[in-house]
Amino acid sequence: MQREFFPLDVADGSVMSQSSAQTVLRQEQFDALRAIIYAHVGVHFPDSKKSILEARLSRRVSELSLESFDQYVHYLTIAPQREQEVQEMLSRVTVGHTSFFRDPAQLDFLRKTALPALIESKRHDRSLRIWSAACSTGEEAYTLAVIVHQALGERLADWRVEILGTDVSAKSLAAAQEGRYTDESVRAIDPAVRERYFRQDGPYWRPDPLVQSLVSFDHHNLKDRLGAKRYGTWDAIVCRNALIYFDEAMKARVAAMFADQLNPGGWIALGAADSLETPGLPLAARGDGAARLYLPATPTPASPAPATAAKPLRLA
Ligand SMILES: C[S@@+](CC[C@H](N)C(=O)[O-])C[C@H]1O[C@@H](n2cnc3c(N)ncnc32)[C@H](O)[C@@H]1O
Repeated sequence: MQREFFPLDVADGSVMSQSSAQTVLRQEQFDALRAIIYAHVGVHFPDSKKSILEARLSRRVSELSLESFDQYVHYLTIAPQREQEVQEMLSRVTVGHTSFFRDPAQLDFLRKTALPALIESKRHDRSLRIWSAACSTGEEAYTLAVIVHQALGERLADWRVEILGTDVSAKSLAAAQEGRYTDESVRAIDPAVRERYFRQDGPYWRPDPLVQSLVSFDHHNLKDRLGAKRYGTWDAIVCRNALIYFDEAMKARVAAMFADQLNPGGWIALGAADSLETPGLPLAARGDGAARLYLPATPTPASPAPATAAKPLRLA
């Protein structure tokens, strides 16, 4: 019984009263919760988001019959179910908003320019590997499968195409794997594309088996640079609308991981509001707006490495 883990904190001003609908989140409780969130997924909650965290988690506090955020912080740190609860909390506090064919201008550029160039460069081994990192409920990964199919056309039968969608939210991944979408979620898809690449299944829509066969999903935390190695390297990495929630330290970590996992000649596509342009990162932006891609940074002649960098270290 979870209550056993928490001494009742009667002096705690944040105890939910009989009449209040929402448990009050005090500053030190907010600090403790955002530290847990940051430690797990690298998502930074600035002070301006305190009321959002309070609104999203006070319901969870009452669902667990806890009486304060202090008790919830203890629950997240010492209860035997803490691992599951951290997952539950993350699924409530991270933004999973996504849609099919999100940012059509960028997808147009990928379909007409970036993918054809990649396909041309890989015509000898006829294999294409694309990582949809932070894919939420799968719409992005299935969209990529559709545009790869459009870009390759009949050649697809002779190619090995792998699109992997990963996310840190187990709930989102379960929905992605299930691959059942409502009328609402497919409404904005061009009717001809929907007709060609989706099938109706009762009240739901499913990506066509051809599209499904190109896509798989797995759990991966963008903090986990070592874990990313198990997937091998990629020709393209698409990571949209996730970096915007990270601070500079986390973005630097992700940039290093992406640089490690990218094949020569490959590229990275981010969301319109995302950026990896801090000086010193191993990636550099090319192109603007919808045509912006990130490639490994090459040292410019104007900024040569310091002469001492090439000298072997002398330990004695
Ligand atoms: C706004 S959604 C973006 C979905 C999709 N890429 C798109 O642009 O439509 C952000 C996703 O990032 C995921 N996320 C947040 N932190 C993460 C982390 N550390 N590792 C992996 N995924 C993370 C969330 O679970 C959420 O599904």
